[in-house]
Amino acid sequence: MSADNISDATKHFVDLRRHMWMAGIEVDLRRLIWQIAVTGKYISAKIHESNRKLAGLKNIYNEEQLALDRSSDTILRIQLEHSGFVREYASEELAETIKVGQGDEKYFVTADPLDGSSLVDTNLAIGTIIGIHRNHVPARGRDTMAAALYITYGPLITFVYSAGKGTHEFVLNREGEYVLSEENIMLKERGSIYSLGGLRRDWTEAHTRYIEFLEREGYKLRYSGGFVPDINQVLIKRGGVFTYPALKNNPRGKLRLNFELQPMAFLIEQAGGKATDGLRDILDIPADSLDQRNPVYIGSRFEIEKAREFLAAGTE
Ligand code: F6P
Ligand code: MN
Repeated sequence: MSADNISDATKHFVDLRRHMWMAGIEVDLRRLIWQIAVTGKYISAKIHESNRKLAGLKNIYNEEQLALDRSSDTILRIQLEHSGFVREYASEELAETIKVGQGDEKYFVTADPLDGSSLVDTNLAIGTIIGIHRNHVPARGRDTMAAALYITYGPLITFVYSAGKGTHEFVLNREGEYVLSEENIMLKERGSIYSLGGLRRDWTEAHTRYIEFLEREGYKLRYSGGFVPDINQVLIKRGGVFTYPALKNNPRGKLRLNFELQPMAFLIEQAGGKATDGLRDILDIPADSLDQRNPVYIGSRFEIEKAREFLAAGTE
């Protein structure tokens, strides 16, 4: 039975493990995804301890680390070490890839353990972003990615994954089960929301013209400042665009290719959308280093094609 065959009558009873089994996802991969889903519960428990303090340390991007950033990273690393399926772990919170396996495990994992940590004190939604690769990272996503997922810690905890067979959302219920809520999510050709990173005064002319086009078309602004909830919004509303563009003083933008952009591009492509840096698909960009950043336009097809057009016109 494939995931497409789950009837409306039964889908309320489909939990994450059953869904992956029905979708025919290879056994080690689904065990690993399950292990990460369980880890999401532990991270959420840490968030509920309400330790919003700074750790007094900075990550490799010179960003202040919260105690929560560090503990989320530690929890993930320990869980992956014990999973038996992961050879190497690369985290936004660490300077280098670290070996967590014996050397013969199948998967290489990237993590942004706690995305949106600047929102913790304001109690806006935050998240965890994971990429699962079949080979060493950094790598071009299209060559190595087997799966991607994110977890949102908001009023509800949701888990969105793709192992190359569609993008699906689960909600953590009171019994601690991840229950299927949205299966085979498909974006429309175009949406009606836009989500904009970067200061307006730093935008390039081409990007400014693109945003003015969206505004003339009546797009509604929806930006929380957390990549996970902002992408989740585009996905669950079935379209629109999130962008963190190249800036005049910072042509590489802000978001990190390996940790943030590749997993989200994988999930959005699996949902029928697109992700580009303006020229190339995010999943086709070679990754030279772990800390590489790239501009991004990600969402439904119409908006991403338009972004490409406006940016190409800007360079003529
Ligand atoms: O991880 C980086 C991040 O916090 C993302 O979650 C978010 O999309 C972006 O940075 C927000 O950046 P800014 O504070 O510049 O809007
Ligand atoms: Mn992040």
